[in-house]
Amino acid sequence: TLIQRLDYQQPAFWIRKVDLTFDLDPAKTLVTSKMQIERNTAVPHGPLRLHGEELNLLRVLIDGSSVSFRQEGHELIIEGAPDADFALEIRNTCCPDKNTALSGLYTSGGSFFTQCEAEGFRRITYFLDRPDVMAVYTVTLRADKARFPILLANGNLTGSGDLDNGRHFAVWHDPFPKPSYLFAVVAGDLVAREQRIRTRAGKDHLLQVFVRRGDLEKTEHAMNSLIASIVWDEARFQLPLDLERFMVVGVSDFNMGAMENKGLNIFNTSALLASPATATDADFHRIESIVAHEYFHNWTGNRVTCRDWFQLSLKEGLTVFRDQEFSMDMAGTPSARAVCRIQDVRQLRALQFPEDSGAMAHPVRPDSYSEINNFYTATVYEKGSEVVRMYQTLVGRAGFEAGMKLYFERHDGQAVTCDDFAQAIADANPGSELSTRLDAFKRWYSQAGTPRVTAHGEHDAATQTYTLRLTQQTPATPGQGDKQPQVIPVVMGLLDRHGVALPLDADGTTERVLVLDQAEQTFVFNGIPSEPVPSLLRGFSAPVVLDDGLSDAALLVLMRHDSDPFNRWEASQRLALNRILHALRAGQPLVLSPVFIDAMRALLNHPELDPAFKELALTLPAESYIAEQMDVVDPQAIHAAVMAAQIQLASALRDDWAAAFEAHQVQGGYTPDPVSSGKRALANLALSMLVLDAQATGDTVWPGKAYQRFKDAGNMTDRMGALAALVNANAELAAPALQRFHALFKDDALVIDKWFALQARAPEADGRVFARARSLLKHPDFSLKNPNRARSLLASLCMFNPAAFHRTDAAGYVFWAEQVLAIDAINPQLASRLARAMDRWAALAEPYRSAAREAIARVAAKPDLSTDVREIVERALASG
Ligand code: ARG
Ligand code: ZN
Repeated sequence: TLIQRLDYQQPAFWIRKVDLTFDLDPAKTLVTSKMQIERNTAVPHGPLRLHGEELNLLRVLIDGSSVSFRQEGHELIIEGAPDADFALEIRNTCCPDKNTALSGLYTSGGSFFTQCEAEGFRRITYFLDRPDVMAVYTVTLRADKARFPILLANGNLTGSGDLDNGRHFAVWHDPFPKPSYLFAVVAGDLVAREQRIRTRAGKDHLLQVFVRRGDLEKTEHAMNSLIASIVWDEARFQLPLDLERFMVVGVSDFNMGAMENKGLNIFNTSALLASPATATDADFHRIESIVAHEYFHNWTGNRVTCRDWFQLSLKEGLTVFRDQEFSMDMAGTPSARAVCRIQDVRQLRALQFPEDSGAMAHPVRPDSYSEINNFYTATVYEKGSEVVRMYQTLVGRAGFEAGMKLYFERHDGQAVTCDDFAQAIADANPGSELSTRLDAFKRWYSQAGTPRVTAHGEHDAATQTYTLRLTQQTPATPGQGDKQPQVIPVVMGLLDRHGVALPLDADGTTERVLVLDQAEQTFVFNGIPSEPVPSLLRGFSAPVVLDDGLSDAALLVLMRHDSDPFNRWEASQRLALNRILHALRAGQPLVLSPVFIDAMRALLNHPELDPAFKELALTLPAESYIAEQMDVVDPQAIHAAVMAAQIQLASALRDDWAAAFEAHQVQGGYTPDPVSSGKRALANLALSMLVLDAQATGDTVWPGKAYQRFKDAGNMTDRMGALAALVNANAELAAPALQRFHALFKDDALVIDKWFALQARAPEADGRVFARARSLLKHPDFSLKNPNRARSLLASLCMFNPAAFHRTDAAGYVFWAEQVLAIDAINPQLASRLARAMDRWAALAEPYRSAAREAIARVAAKPDLSTDVREIVERALASG
């Protein structure tokens, strides 16, 4: 059944307090829930309907006496609930060991963990499992002391002690009313890194990071990231830590990255554990941002939460924005900040843009869903964050901070909507570009699809004016035919032919924010002596596709001289993209021009640019991003064009790559700071180019060097970099290197995930990568039960390696259908993520398109699919 946003109604009852007791046993856990319930007089009297799934109900008491009830589907219905306040007591059991869906209470590595967002609490006990029902929780945990020495729940520890039969107990009380999705329990044989801190407000807090024995030395980076996050939120938004104790726990079986349960964040170990020998620079960076993200939820999500799940971006878009701002502030220098921004935009374009133009296209605030877990998407998270960034652009940084302050003044302790957030930011900034067009701005929440902005400039030498005409249009998406103009902040400047910034007004300002809010608008600039080069959408000021029609000459001016580093990078990408698209559209082999090669050489050898920036500018656009620019997508042709571009760039700059490799070696101990990670990134790109070039020339020196570097590397970034260079372009050395890597890290699951992923993501050549991936299914280390492992092979192949996946013999699609069905029987959320590999099938060229449709139809024909997978495949079929 489809749930509609506009059908929202308040619940008929509130649960104000709940006392939970768990008798933890992996095979059968007994849960006793005592709830204080109050009728909601704002809505008509009705029965009490509690959610419950996969539970065994033992008894139901109201004010101590048994009461009649019935069970219908996933509901427990009590018709005769009192009109006044009453106590409801429920006893039930659940089965953590059999819970392979990893939603609710489950076991992993012999310990207990929970995941309740979005609707997992109902798999623990019967409840009003919806975010607008907020209660104060007291939790008693009882378990075998030897097997489960650590017993954790939200809030503060108020009691603990021993029981009979080798069991013990702990009592936890969380003083903050919270929705059930923020509930958490952990029990097991874990160890903790601890740190006591005193915050600016002068309060003392205990921070703990719990992991399995043996992983403790990999928690230092997470702890440092947590401390930095606490300091940052106090400084930037005046939001302090509100708990005496803040706990973080790692678990190897987890569907997502991490979860912000109040005071007890639970993390996928892949988002928590790092050591120089086992984690890459990218891993260190990701961990810092996810630790921050979950911590920031304590205010944006927990103190102020969502009224209903359609409002998910209220907390996710805002919290992603906050973690991105944090990462930029941590990076420090303007150039390192730009590198963060470029990486975020690259991610948005590689994941969210395709989502916005495919079967699952939905607004930042969706209108309907059948399974809410399917809407934890790049649109809700990453596009949602861009929407928050546009508020900041329109009201300024100080204005945005004032808006946040008002938001918390109004809504602390409440469950609210995206409208409430918008209103707070607007009301704190009366008369601003935002407040004067708030309704139109809010179309960012209601309209799906990526707006296309076209720019056309005309210079009039006689009057020395430059007229910039901007138009916008948002393409139709499933269920949304007509779109209205959106409010698009276009941060811009003008450069002269030599790259000098031109003053835009009498004050000499060289940058302005144009607000495009009509289908078509013109902006006139006076005192512009000659034809300028426009630098538009600086810093990627709105999540749109920009067509500015700039010539190569103009792009070269921007790439060399723009004051905005984002647009310098963008110009480099556009130069490459234009060439690739031109070859694809003409159906001709790609040949890079000397002008392009020279520009790239100058960039690589530039004396001032940061290595991290150079690496980003010299990396060709992702195949998925190129596919986005095509009306009909031929994944094999795109792959061939990108490979051709890469090989030419490798060979034309051979000596420069060699020099860059030597010049960017990092001396001394490992730290993941922006400067040394930038050097490693550029050195690794250079190395992979040199090994690629060697493949064509038959040279053996660079492959040999790569193998040596792989063996001797002092950190995982360099080891993986060298291994990837070999896997991508030297089969003979790749084989022993992969074997050695596996032997070295066979006991470290997170590193073995990398081993699978690297092989499944290798550039396809003659079907060898697909064949290898398929045979890895039978590797003794492979398992569909562990989400990280399943993703490392299956998502890598089906979602991140288009050329290996889309085959003329349809074997990739057959493989996909088999795996989706196999996983669906184990873990529907994981299966439905993989199912999304087919989102864009309707844009494929033949024979891919028909074969893809057939595979999707085969999955959809299965009668007992989960609602998760059913929603994805049915939307896919409807989109074609
Ligand atoms: N709120 C979590 C986060 O963004 C994500 C949890 C989503 N889990 C799920 N099963 N849908 O940090
Ligand atoms: Zn989040």
